[in-house]
Amino acid sequence: MSYVDVFSDIIAKQLNGELTKEEIMNVVEKPKFEGQGDLAFPCFTLAKTMKVAPHKIASDLAQKLEHPLFEKVVSEGPYVNGFLDQTEVSKEVMKTVLEQGRNFGSHEFGHDERIVIDFSSPNIAKPFSMGHLRSTVIGNAISNIAEKCGYQTVKVNHLGDWGTQFGKLIVAYKLWGNEATVREEPIKELLSLYVKFHEEVKNNSDLDELAREWFKKLEDGDEEALNLWRWFRGESLKEFSKIYELLNVAFDSYHGEAFYNDKMKDTITELKRKNLVTHSEGAEVVELSEFNMPPCLLTKSDGATLYATRDLTAAFYRYDNYKFAKSLYVVGHEQSLHFNQLFSVLKKGEYPWADRLEHVPFGFILKDGKKMSTRQGKVVLLEEVIEEAISTARNNIEEKNPELNDKDDVARMVGVGAIIFHDLKNDRKSNIEFSIEDMLRFEGSTGPYVQYTYARTQSILRKAKLEKISTETGLSDPYSWAVIKAIDTFPKTILKAFHGNDPSQIAKYLIDLCRDFNKYYANEKILIDDEGLEARLALVKSVSIVIEEGLNLLGIEAPKAM
Ligand code: ARG
Repeated sequence: MSYVDVFSDIIAKQLNGELTKEEIMNVVEKPKFEGQGDLAFPCFTLAKTMKVAPHKIASDLAQKLEHPLFEKVVSEGPYVNGFLDQTEVSKEVMKTVLEQGRNFGSHEFGHDERIVIDFSSPNIAKPFSMGHLRSTVIGNAISNIAEKCGYQTVKVNHLGDWGTQFGKLIVAYKLWGNEATVREEPIKELLSLYVKFHEEVKNNSDLDELAREWFKKLEDGDEEALNLWRWFRGESLKEFSKIYELLNVAFDSYHGEAFYNDKMKDTITELKRKNLVTHSEGAEVVELSEFNMPPCLLTKSDGATLYATRDLTAAFYRYDNYKFAKSLYVVGHEQSLHFNQLFSVLKKGEYPWADRLEHVPFGFILKDGKKMSTRQGKVVLLEEVIEEAISTARNNIEEKNPELNDKDDVARMVGVGAIIFHDLKNDRKSNIEFSIEDMLRFEGSTGPYVQYTYARTQSILRKAKLEKISTETGLSDPYSWAVIKAIDTFPKTILKAFHGNDPSQIAKYLIDLCRDFNKYYANEKILIDDEGLEARLALVKSVSIVIEEGLNLLGIEAPKAM
């Protein structure tokens, strides 16, 4: 139990149900001025319900409050101020962390309910874009955080492996493609075929008609079309797997859009049963004017289905199969309208679970202030970007610590960690500037900075050569106090990250914790042999546990040495 809990708890007990512990926790704050203690409970709300002046409530309450973790509790105007006993609190906090280990900060309120997380979801035959990278790292972190809160997660890669573009691709391949070239560099080659199609169609509109026919064949199960499609899909997946391997991300399901091909009829029947479907110029749509939105298109006049049809079908499928408590879509904010339409159709159908669906949008990755684009064949191959980060990390190691063991492994952890951290430290809705150089800095708010701090804790613990660290004594210097307070807020930080689908809470938290710890390290001699040694090592060990767990929640590995 953290000291905010304890403080709220003793107040709640004195108040005899006037306010719950949770209500108190929500208003407990840091005192405004230095010298007023560590925690303040404002009595204004109570004053209203109890019809007693707030300063009177504060002084009555303060007199009755005591607890071993508090040196004293006093009133200050309308506030009850708690002064923590640093030695006792530090002992308590370190004991909790060392006992719970990597479980520290876990919650159980998820009760093994399921959260479906649709993330990454790149498009077959196209490069894995920066947007997909964002979706991948944000979705993966959200999933880890949900598990830390006691949920089971279902990680779904909703591959873009269906749609009219496959008709175009098949036509382009049949006209201008070459098997060997595709095998050699599938994504580059398929993309350039796709681009060529768009160039040629400007002068030859028959191509569009042809593409439609081929997609129709594909939907109807034509063998030749299916074989080409399977081949393109397989080659693309091979490429994507390399990225997932580098990022250390895995999925529970690869059911992409194609998976829903034979299930969309049922969706339309179901929506008709609910009287939601109307006809408009030969197309079938769900009117959404009451939500101030354009209609959601289900089928075109030629009967072809759309992205939205497949997403609706996927939503039904996921609810039937997973009975989710929440279903998240980690997709760029440019698709907000699509998801709003999707959710509105389900709300209009009065599906009781419709409000459990949530779009988790994010901003663009920019290069020199401009959106990184894959159109016009300008490809930024993500795998190359990751490899570059790894080799830069490798060079840094060679420069700073040439004696290091497992250099390749550490370089991979650092290069990849840098990319992930750079993304996750930002508020996900803002655009972020992509710069390998910035990501890999050892100082500042970077992944390598956090990893380096972790490696530092490991090196101290190795030098100390202690089998087991006891927490019989506490700490009382000012630098450790900042660290203790930071450690104590880890569980709450996880809550915030979970409720806001916001991994940046954890990234920022780690930066603060590392800053505090590095100040402690710079100001206190840790490894001198006196009676405080065990307590100082307990602090180092506690910090190392929290950093490692925090990094892992973000999907980043923590190297033992760097
Ligand atoms: N493949 C889509 C794209 O790259 C993203 C899919 C997101 N998930 C979904 N259920 N629509 O734009």
